Amino acid sequence: MGYVLGIDLGTSSLKGIVMNKLGDVVAEASSAYEIDSRAPGFSEQHPEDWKKACEEVLAQLSVEVPNFGTELEAISFSGQMHSLVVLDEAFNPVYPAILWNDVRTTKQCQEITERFGEQILEITKNRVLEGFTLPKILWLQENEAETWNKVRHIMLPKDYLAFVLTGELHTEYSDAAGTLLFDVEKAEWSEAILNEFGIDQNFLPPVGSSLEQVGIVKKSYRARFGLKQAVKVYAGGADNACAAFGAGLVNDEEALVSLGTSGVFSSFEQGLSNYQGKLHFFNHVLPGANYSMGVTLAAGSSLNWFKKAFGKGKSFEELLRDVQFVAPGSEGLLFTPYIVGERTPHFDSRIRGSFIGIDARHELKHFARAVLEGITFSLKDSQVLMEQAKSERFQRIISVGGGAKNSDWMQIQADVFHAEMVRLEVEQGPGVGACMIAALGCGWFDSPEACREVFVHYKEERFIPNPENVARYAQFYSIYREIYPATKGVSQELLKML
Ligand code: XUL
Repeated sequence: MGYVLGIDLGTSSLKGIVMNKLGDVVAEASSAYEIDSRAPGFSEQHPEDWKKACEEVLAQLSVEVPNFGTELEAISFSGQMHSLVVLDEAFNPVYPAILWNDVRTTKQCQEITERFGEQILEITKNRVLEGFTLPKILWLQENEAETWNKVRHIMLPKDYLAFVLTGELHTEYSDAAGTLLFDVEKAEWSEAILNEFGIDQNFLPPVGSSLEQVGIVKKSYRARFGLKQAVKVYAGGADNACAAFGAGLVNDEEALVSLGTSGVFSSFEQGLSNYQGKLHFFNHVLPGANYSMGVTLAAGSSLNWFKKAFGKGKSFEELLRDVQFVAPGSEGLLFTPYIVGERTPHFDSRIRGSFIGIDARHELKHFARAVLEGITFSLKDSQVLMEQAKSERFQRIISVGGGAKNSDWMQIQADVFHAEMVRLEVEQGPGVGACMIAALGCGWFDSPEACREVFVHYKEERFIPNPENVARYAQFYSIYREIYPATKGVSQELLKML
């Protein structure tokens, strides 16, 4: 009946997911790779490892999936954002890929901000951050001049894979938007930025829509994996955009909250909101749309840290079992999840977390609830920025990741965000978004909405805000907002003592 394959090139592994026209998952396969941290702040991977992982996943799927060779119609991608891939004239990588979570580029970020900061914000709609691609390019120019001289092609991770499979160089708006080289409004590479930083535009691939066909799978791969037809390859998108689409976010009345290691609050944007860099703002995978996104660096990892430090020997279930018996606000105990600094809205690597209001009455269950509430308050900061910009509240929020697995936390989210919360029937991550792009690309559906109808299903159970709790949380949230300015200086002083 026809299959599509979504390939998610993540930070720890590459996952392939095969779906059919009914939106069923037919099979999944994955292959892991390492991050190389050969110096402090470095985080690198080898594009050849992604290629190997992709070949392994294709090999596995070609064996496991019935009629893979005759039924696979199209492939698309979801990819880790921002990471820099550089190739020479012969299309060979000349340096390891410098990943989105590599922080060696603080000096280059300062240089960019000093030379071009305001204009960068105006053109790219984002502030300059270590994770983005442009500072990585400058680092290479400054520290690896010989390597830089060999560079002829600059690309993003998933586009490298598309190149490997098809032989074609191409990228699309959602990933280009995360480079700081892209004019988000005009949807084209920014000549002004490229000129300022000495980057030849010919080094960059042509850019188009996520749904655009890049090419077809090369003959050699078709023979190797038994693919009988000309399998089409569509451009795909940035993982956060694919995650949003794959969770069914196709309009601006809804938002997505993803509670994994880090937390993301993202919203579909029809127009060009001006967040002045307080939120990330990128082109979407859906034609003409954008999305905004706020990040809490330590969401699930705050809970992991808390369990390790105070809940030794307990499972997450045990740790969180009694939070239902604690009233909203944890009896006057607040937590800020800034344990590794914070991105949105403070962009402050030197702030640190805190418990405020500790009282002799408090037990482990109060602290555990305060951690869940603090993480949720931190994401509410992003929600507030988005709702202020559009002057409307989100009617419904889709929750994914670890935070969607715990019903008490789902209710906390409903009460803090003051919105109905839903979760997915089956969660497969951004790879589903890539499958949906392939399905739209090859014409299975007329519109993203029609595709969502078939591919995305929510659990029937809804979490409805409780008006009393909403009012109570509104008060606690405004106190929570006072903690950052009040503890900023103290955190900095403490860091100086280390
Ligand atoms: C987004 C970001 C990460 C990566 C992870 O700005 O840096 O979410 O996309 O793959």
